[in-house]
Amino acid sequence: DDPEKLAAFQARIDRGEKIEPKDWMPEGYRKTLIRQIGQHAHSEIVGQLPEGNWVTRAPTLERKAILLAKVQDEAGHGLYLYCAAETLGVSRDALTEMLLDGRMKYSSIFNYPTLTWADMGAVGWLVDGAAIMNQVPLQRTSYGPYARAMVRICKEESFHQRQGFDIMMKMANGTEAQRRMAQDALNRFWYPSLMMFGPSDKDSTHSAQSMKWRIKMNTNDELRQKFVDQTVPQAEYLGLTVPDPDLRWNEETGHYDFTEPDWSEFMEVIAGNGPCNRDRLEARNRAWDEGAWVREGLMAHAEKRRAAQVA
Ligand code: ACO
Repeated sequence: DDPEKLAAFQARIDRGEKIEPKDWMPEGYRKTLIRQIGQHAHSEIVGQLPEGNWVTRAPTLERKAILLAKVQDEAGHGLYLYCAAETLGVSRDALTEMLLDGRMKYSSIFNYPTLTWADMGAVGWLVDGAAIMNQVPLQRTSYGPYARAMVRICKEESFHQRQGFDIMMKMANGTEAQRRMAQDALNRFWYPSLMMFGPSDKDSTHSAQSMKWRIKMNTNDELRQKFVDQTVPQAEYLGLTVPDPDLRWNEETGHYDFTEPDWSEFMEVIAGNGPCNRDRLEARNRAWDEGAWVREGLMAHAEKRRAAQVA
């Protein structure tokens, strides 16, 4: 890329201007956005699976309706994000193929199983809580279509987070067996939620450049710390124990000290060897194959309408 163009581009970013689809942008900026927005979209789509698992088993009709609405919201988020990625010159089909054959990633968190109803609480409270922590700053990201998609997504995610916390409150204040289920869900989802923010800053390949381009607004460790600081008092309010014996408030720093996740587990999960990676990709591949007749039908209908207009 021409150094003068690059400098002018960086100056626009530094002034806080939004970059729009038709503006000139360095190839690396475009590629990084396609990777991040694409992965983000895939996470929303794959993220329907662990919760979809409980739609038929929700304990009441009201809980079922809420969960169903939430899972549908996630599909919608995936679609806004695919649209944002398409403005960068990549098609939704191409992105989908890269998800289905494992060339693109989706969030590590969705490779963990949801074993009990309390997991629906933990996913909403912790997973959507972590997602919001990461996505609220992205409303100010430099790429216009991505920033704008985040506004609505964040509003819906806040509702998701509250419905999760509400399930946790019911469970934590319920019978002894329900309280134990809530604690067990927190035990299993705590570290995977901390991993959602990505590797520690020293191991993050993309952070420095992405922050310079304002594709990312904060480092992985900054957001992880913010999440711990916000979530520990919520666990206390629920009367549950965060599964970290070394967790303590540090008067000097004004933050909680906590034990880092097991990064070797994280590396295994993102390499495709987590507890549910194979199931998740199989489910998405099956949905794609079984939906072929719908796509073909829509194309045939569009073709008929076009032909009728020409005639
Ligand atoms: N799960 C899977 N892969 C991850 C994760 C994770 N939790 N965190 C990091 N990685 C991958 C990165 O994609 C990168 O691999 P790649 O080069 O093959 O793409 C590698 O680990 C190194 O990480 P970083 O250099 O730190 O990557 P990056 O700068 O992209 O930061 C982050 C990762 C924080 C997830 C960033 O991409 C981001 O903010 N994305 C938007 C939010 C998002 O995708 N949320 C999805 C989960 S929330 C939800 O959907 C409900």
